[in-house]
Amino acid sequence: MKVGVFDSGLGGLTVVQAITKTFKGAQIFYIADTLFAPYGEKSKEQILKHSLDVTNYLINKHKIDVLIVACNTATSAAIKFLREEFPTLIVIGTEPGIKPAMQNTLTKKVGVLATPATLNGDKYQELLNELSKEHDVKVFEQACAGLVEQIEDGKTNHPETISMLEDWLKPMHLNSVDTIVLGCTHYPLISQIIKDVMGAKIKLIETGTAIAKRLENLSSQNGHINDGELSIKVFYTGDIKIDMINMILETWENGGKIVVRDTNE
Ligand code: DGL
Repeated sequence: MKVGVFDSGLGGLTVVQAITKTFKGAQIFYIADTLFAPYGEKSKEQILKHSLDVTNYLINKHKIDVLIVACNTATSAAIKFLREEFPTLIVIGTEPGIKPAMQNTLTKKVGVLATPATLNGDKYQELLNELSKEHDVKVFEQACAGLVEQIEDGKTNHPETISMLEDWLKPMHLNSVDTIVLGCTHYPLISQIIKDVMGAKIKLIETGTAIAKRLENLSSQNGHINDGELSIKVFYTGDIKIDMINMILETWENGGKIVVRDTNE
């Protein structure tokens, strides 16, 4: 089984990490579309175009069977179109985990951190409206413009990044938010700062594990045997901080066989 995964940058590696914990016998081709990162401050049309270009590359060059859009922003802007355009491809998207957050909160106050494009997208608004009918929970949203750039720059523990998060999290802290949805796949990479600001008891909702489960189910329905080596190749379209890739991979217990390449080769 050949699995293509993409994000605007390093964030989708948090999804790949979850996949490596249980998924076997496959080749993963990861594209960090850093030439056009960040996606979250672009128009829907631009995000759709970049998502389509990366998908075409993964299909033509690597003959993928499965596409994982490991980016909330690209999922919101492009998943419907990608499913229509490639009907034989298994397409898995990433959506903010608002549902588990609303089910888990004890204070009935939930925070959502995401990119401006995700929070302004129809998909998020529809999901929130739907869930708000079933749950009496107050939602504190925060668009984190500039946070993806900080992470891509390797500033995951930098005073500037800490100060941005302190400002954004203040209303959540003051209002006893006990559960925060990480609505961007980059944000697990700064989860320690969120814990430091909000207190160790804060519950953070990521989507990597849910995506890994969905991949296992859909691939086994398509005849995949979950056994054998998992190889991962990481490609990127623009600049990337190799140190950051190495730092992320060091935290993985089972990183598979990882090779980092440039798409231009
Ligand atoms: N990791 C992407 C997401 O999940 C980041 C988007 C961006 O590049 O701004 O939304």
